[in-house]
Amino acid sequence: MIARAAECLRAGGLVAFPTETVYGLGVHALDRAAVRRLFEAKQRPATDPLIVHIGSVDLLAPLVIEVPDAVRTLARRFWPGPLTLVLPRSPVVPDEVTAGLPSVAVRVPSHSVARALIAAAGIPVAAPSANLFSRPSPTRASHVLDDLGGRIDLIIDGGPTTIGVESTVLDLSRGTPTVLRPGAITVDMLREVLPRVDVLTTIEPGPMPSPGMLEKHYAPRAPLTLFEGQPAAVLQALVLAARAALVEGKSVGVIAADDDEAALGELGGSDKHVLLRTIGAERATDVVAARLYAALRDLDAAGVDVILVRSFPAERGLGTAVQDRLRRAAAGRIVRC
Ligand code: TXA
Ligand code: MG
Repeated sequence: MIARAAECLRAGGLVAFPTETVYGLGVHALDRAAVRRLFEAKQRPATDPLIVHIGSVDLLAPLVIEVPDAVRTLARRFWPGPLTLVLPRSPVVPDEVTAGLPSVAVRVPSHSVARALIAAAGIPVAAPSANLFSRPSPTRASHVLDDLGGRIDLIIDGGPTTIGVESTVLDLSRGTPTVLRPGAITVDMLREVLPRVDVLTTIEPGPMPSPGMLEKHYAPRAPLTLFEGQPAAVLQALVLAARAALVEGKSVGVIAADDDEAALGELGGSDKHVLLRTIGAERATDVVAARLYAALRDLDAAGVDVILVRSFPAERGLGTAVQDRLRRAAAGRIVRC
């Protein structure tokens, strides 16, 4: 399977494969025509650059202008793993991959299938998440099939991915290293090895630091409202909003923590117009991250009219990434309780 998939990649084909974060849709990073086909298959705007996946830091040099010491330090600590580095690119990398930007995003994934595939292919593999543009990233092979079946050449099924949200993106291409997208490698972890790390918090007008990040990337089909604040107040507001939607004759999907079942019990209950998905204990943000996108897709597939989601603690571990993805999915529909 790996040998066939590697051959397919070398020949310019589109191959979906598991990584430790989400499934990626791989393509030969130096084959412009193939990269263009990938954008078409995903219906992804050409302004949204791709991450290039390689087997080890030793294979980075041809893709970038130079490999600074900070990169070697980060690689020693976090590669292979869910950290993407943005660096000034060399002319070898096609414009199609970087959306014309002077930088390229690179990562070394740790998933055994991804590693075997990249090694067997012997080429840098550009791979965005293997979803249709604006759908949640796929965490199972079936998600890839739902979105891209018939549009791509091969899917390698490696079971559910373990992390469940996309890699941390760290921009090292200008000034202070800056986190553009939070992920499993947290700012605190990065600050253990780099003297200074900033975080992109507000999306400012003007030139886009990371074009893809402005799109409402993770949106499910039904409008999603996020309730933020103290858990008790959040659950109260969420129950009220659910009741109001039911009165309007809408069906409601709710994403909550395992701990919430008591508070939401009367909602879940017998009402067939409410679908409750609990995705882990409130504080188990690693479990919540792993199950979030599947829950969103599940509620979409069930055809609910609205999705109501409680917030999860954002201070630790994957909590920051979960908050980021939920806020994007909410696209402004955030109720502060
Ligand atoms: O975990 C992941 O990163 C997954 C797996 C498959 O590796 N990939 C992934 O790719 O999430 P994608 O294309 O869905 O997201 C890539 C992100 C986008 O937000 C994009 O804007 C940013 O990386 N990016 C890529 N190249 C960039 C660059 N040169 N400068 C700034 N941001 C860049
Ligand atoms: Mg994506």
